[in-house]
Amino acid sequence: MTVEETVRQTLAELQVTGEEAVRSAFAEVRSAMEQERQRIIREGARDETERQMIAKTMRDRWLARKQGLLACVDENWLEKAPPELKPVVGRQFNELRRKVIASCEVSGLMSEIPLMEEPAGAAGTTASAARRTAAPGAARVQVTDLTLPGYRRPLGSLHPVTQVQREIEAIFLGLGFTIETGPEIESVYYNFDALNIPESHPSRDDWDTLYIDSQTLLRTHTSPVQIRAMRKHGAPLYIIIPGRCYRRDNPDSTHSPIFHQIEGLAVDTHITFADLKGTLDFFARKFFGEKTRTSFHPSFFPFTEPSGEVAIGCRFCEGKGCRICKQSGWIEVMGCGIVHPDVLRHGGIDPLRYTGWAFGLGVERYAMMKYDINDIQLFLQSDMRFLEQF
Ligand code: PHE
Repeated sequence: MTVEETVRQTLAELQVTGEEAVRSAFAEVRSAMEQERQRIIREGARDETERQMIAKTMRDRWLARKQGLLACVDENWLEKAPPELKPVVGRQFNELRRKVIASCEVSGLMSEIPLMEEPAGAAGTTASAARRTAAPGAARVQVTDLTLPGYRRPLGSLHPVTQVQREIEAIFLGLGFTIETGPEIESVYYNFDALNIPESHPSRDDWDTLYIDSQTLLRTHTSPVQIRAMRKHGAPLYIIIPGRCYRRDNPDSTHSPIFHQIEGLAVDTHITFADLKGTLDFFARKFFGEKTRTSFHPSFFPFTEPSGEVAIGCRFCEGKGCRICKQSGWIEVMGCGIVHPDVLRHGGIDPLRYTGWAFGLGVERYAMMKYDINDIQLFLQSDMRFLEQF
């Protein structure tokens, strides 16, 4: 009968009726405990963690409040002892309890359990050899191979849109511009009114603009930061404004409801259309290559007058006309113009003293041209197979 089986029965069930029998029943429990203790000390542990686990298991087996072996002795032997045996069972129980507490205390046990070292490939120590004989089926000790390379965290990289944004920023920073940013959640006033966009303009419609409430929206372009910056810094002002914009567009290969723009704004005395042309031509050659030709076409924006579109000579057909430039030989790359006097006024700048030029471009489009990407959706899909290429 194992010690567990013994302590789960009462003394009567075990047919222990006399004092001598009580003493030898307790002696058996004590010796079972002592044998277990000797066995775990003989077997040792592979490492600190295992040593602690072995010690705790022993302690719980004997001393756990509910199902520990000592608790069973208390419940089945002591409490259920017939009155005439109570005194001797009580004395024996107290003695057993003292012994178990002394022998199964975790830190004491741990200090007695030896650590077995088993170098890879070596014959092993006597102790571990003994252990192998004792448990022939047990798995061989795994020793970490210190010559293996460590875990590597893959290095991240900047998103292609961020890379292109920084590249464009760098060109303008080199010209003395500074970077300005503004909120993505914008008021109707800054996004439209201050930019001279009339109430009737189609872009104010629900179809193009994502409204939060009647006075608040997700900015549809970076131009509202023109006004904020003019009010904050006054003139002269040379800034570029990178940032995220939102439009209520159905996603397709060239439209995304979330996209990025870079705005440029120069305000100073004696600014003319020649400054705008010269600067944007310089920029196009820096970004697209020195041989790039630019062309300015008239256009319309409520906040610039006159307004234009900048196009670069198609790099794929060299201006001859192809599928990419829709046979025109030119690819449009930004909107621009001379800042409307009303816009300067909304920015708190005197239009009689200062003039300015501005442009706005879509960063995704630049990244698509630069890396020959044919679907704008790829930028927001977080597909590593795409992103890892940059
Ligand atoms: N804000 C315009 C747009 O989103 C671009 C633009 C900026 C045009 C500045 C002219 C001057 O299309």
